[in-house]
Amino acid sequence: MIKNNCEKSVKQYYIKTFGCQMNVYDSQRIAAILESLGYQATDRAETADLVIFNTCHIREKAAEKVFSDLGRLNLIRESRLQEGKDTIIGLVGCVVQAEDEQIAKRAPFVDFATGPLTYHRIPEILEKIRRKKGQTIIDTEFPAEAKFDFLPENKHPGVCAFLAIQEGCNNFCTYCVVPYTRGAEYSRPVEDVITEAKSLVDNGCLEINLLGQNVNSYHGEDKQGKERDLAYLLHRLSEIDGLERLRYTTSYPADMTDDLIACHRDLKKLMPYLHLPVQSGSDNVLKAMNRRHTSGDYLKIIDKLKTANPEIGLSSDFIVGFPGETDTDFKATLELVKKVGYIQAFSFKYSRRAGTPAAIMPNQVAEKVKTERLEILQDLLFSHQLQFNQSCVGKTMPVLFESEGKGKNMLFGRTPYMQNLNAKLDKKYLNKIVNIEITAAGMNTLSGQLKG
Ligand code: SAH
Ligand code: SF4
Ligand code: F3S
Repeated sequence: MIKNNCEKSVKQYYIKTFGCQMNVYDSQRIAAILESLGYQATDRAETADLVIFNTCHIREKAAEKVFSDLGRLNLIRESRLQEGKDTIIGLVGCVVQAEDEQIAKRAPFVDFATGPLTYHRIPEILEKIRRKKGQTIIDTEFPAEAKFDFLPENKHPGVCAFLAIQEGCNNFCTYCVVPYTRGAEYSRPVEDVITEAKSLVDNGCLEINLLGQNVNSYHGEDKQGKERDLAYLLHRLSEIDGLERLRYTTSYPADMTDDLIACHRDLKKLMPYLHLPVQSGSDNVLKAMNRRHTSGDYLKIIDKLKTANPEIGLSSDFIVGFPGETDTDFKATLELVKKVGYIQAFSFKYSRRAGTPAAIMPNQVAEKVKTERLEILQDLLFSHQLQFNQSCVGKTMPVLFESEGKGKNMLFGRTPYMQNLNAKLDKKYLNKIVNIEITAAGMNTLSGQLKG
């Protein structure tokens, strides 16, 4: 009986994450904060005493989804209320930063809302709510302190972990909300990153993916106060015993220095895969987007990368239907895609974001044209992806198995190229890197078997 009462008194939390990998990392850190306060994770909003949505504002659809999901959450909150149970609802992330004034109007039942740079203040906020529930607390400051300095260690990182080393963006691409939601670029000090990486490895992590909105502009200080770049950091991280794989994302083409490119030749632990968004193949569009590179600059970087490591696989983001994009501009994108031969890519229709310069540019492209162009681009990108996956059949690759797969005795893992792979394999291979022969390949998944 006593045990039951104890169990009932443990508060449960549920976090839903929208958006990019940085939000996934942030949610994991918020979870660590809540667990340090005695909360326990649940994967059902219905049973949670505290529900947090970590939101994304990048495209209209992403932001609107948050508000429709909040509506559903309010119904859950009301039915719990009838059972005499309270639910605290928190919004964090980029929608909060961009729409702080809208939140109280559109979702007055939200108890607190914090921007991406202030979630370390959640404990204080929860304490305030405990004392006085009923009004929405909103915190969208760009604080002087760095949130990273206030976070408990991630004790359960899993075998693949994200590690944020940089946040914010100074590039101001004319379509993008990130510089407004995440603020100016900030790089964490070198030693803080090394300490966190070692702690992740001590807790079982084999692969670290360094994160930043503009990760290759990293310029953190070392012990002597000297600014160091991403190439230096990758060299330092590669020296950590027990760490097997390194990745970094997302990079900005103009910040791909020769030293960083050389890492793809020199560092065995750095995986032969790079996400390097180009957005468009047309110089007119790139200029209107305020990108600091032409398509020629980009192709030169790709050449250097392929020379540094002929095995490298590339991926990118694309936007179609940017204001003023003509058929000729769009064709230039298709040409660039053919030249690079991406193994994977993300492509989006341009979405008008209030407050960004592109939102008020003339010659907005009709929705129908955007849809047509996206379809054409995706057909090409998907065909390259499938071709690459199929070219892997018969090869043997080291696969990091990170979870159980769908189906009996199946394990799920990732190849060096981030391809999803399923294999029928004994559980003893879970959380290990295993040589796997690729036996079949589709667009999104590979199958394989243990190399005998
Ligand atoms: N910092 C990264 C990623 C930013 S957001 C970078 O610079 O590459 C991820 C992707 O969303 C972008 O690369 C871009 O392709 C897309 N994106 C950003 N704003 C957009 C908008 N207004 N409409 C459509 N896609 C957008
Ligand atoms: Fe947005 Fe451009 Fe910065 Fe990427 S580089 S986050 S697209 S402003
Ligand atoms: Fe979205 Fe913010 Fe990431 S707008 S893509 S969650 S930086």
